[in-house]
Amino acid sequence: MNILSSRRFPGPAWDELQSVEYYDPPLRAASPKVEALAVVGEEVGAATLELLPRLRLVANYGVGYDGIDVAACAARGVAVTNTPGVLDAATADLTMALILASRRRVVEGDAFVRSGKWGTEWVSGALLGQEVSGATLGIVGLGRIGTAVARRARGFDMRVLYWRRTRLPVEDESELGVEYRELDELLRESEIVTVHVPLAEGTERLIDARRIGLLRPGACFVNTSRGGIVDEPALVEALSAGRIRAGLDVFVDEPNVPAELLGLPNVVLTPHVGSATVETREAMTRVLVDNLQAAAAGRPLPNPVYAS
Ligand code: 8YV
Repeated sequence: MNILSSRRFPGPAWDELQSVEYYDPPLRAASPKVEALAVVGEEVGAATLELLPRLRLVANYGVGYDGIDVAACAARGVAVTNTPGVLDAATADLTMALILASRRRVVEGDAFVRSGKWGTEWVSGALLGQEVSGATLGIVGLGRIGTAVARRARGFDMRVLYWRRTRLPVEDESELGVEYRELDELLRESEIVTVHVPLAEGTERLIDARRIGLLRPGACFVNTSRGGIVDEPALVEALSAGRIRAGLDVFVDEPNVPAELLGLPNVVLTPHVGSATVETREAMTRVLVDNLQAAAAGRPLPNPVYAS
């Protein structure tokens, strides 16, 4: 199978593939021989599909596939796959890191030490944070990653509220130690809110200006899913006013981060690194390659996705 890829993916699994050619996104030239396209974050829409008349598979490196027009692919008989599961732990770990960094002011403390401002006095006022242990955490979207966050939160004795489209059976809620809330209720009640829904129709700007207004003063808002789930200008406004804190790994127009955020002490910023560990990135390559190999052999695809 002729594969076109936007890059070499990390880890040994990638070397199992034959017939891989590389391109520099965005794809501009027609490639009549290409049967599978491997992408990460690149947009794949009707214009790209036009250039690849023999395409049978778009294999996405990542669980979120909001950059791919799945309906346009389906209309042409092109399958789409993703890499779910293997990145849950790494993304949940980063979520906890952002919660801890934000509530305990780790980045501000680091800057304080490096600037030489740490004198002989006992550190108090300026760097007093808020407790993580025992706090009320609201999880928006309790899928694989949200569930991994809930399990970690138990280790911090947190009270965990969740919202998702379909409520879990009561036995699952009690096994996981989570309580269901309507979304607005969850936002009002939580001291920390973390978002784990995919970006799709119905979740774009799910956390809009009105809902940002429901967050408690001093609440911590964490996003490791997609920037588009939040009304970013409204979030920037709430942060600029010092009303809330945040830990943000994702933004609407990456790699562009709203300039106002860069000088704010109450926000911790990371460059979309939820899955960015050596182990997880290699495991994602394994899943990507499994899907490409299955397509080449005419076997059922392990991780197909469908238009919502
Ligand atoms: C990135 C992610 O796709 O899986 C996802 O949806 O957001 C990430 O894993 C990947 O890390 C490349 O940036």
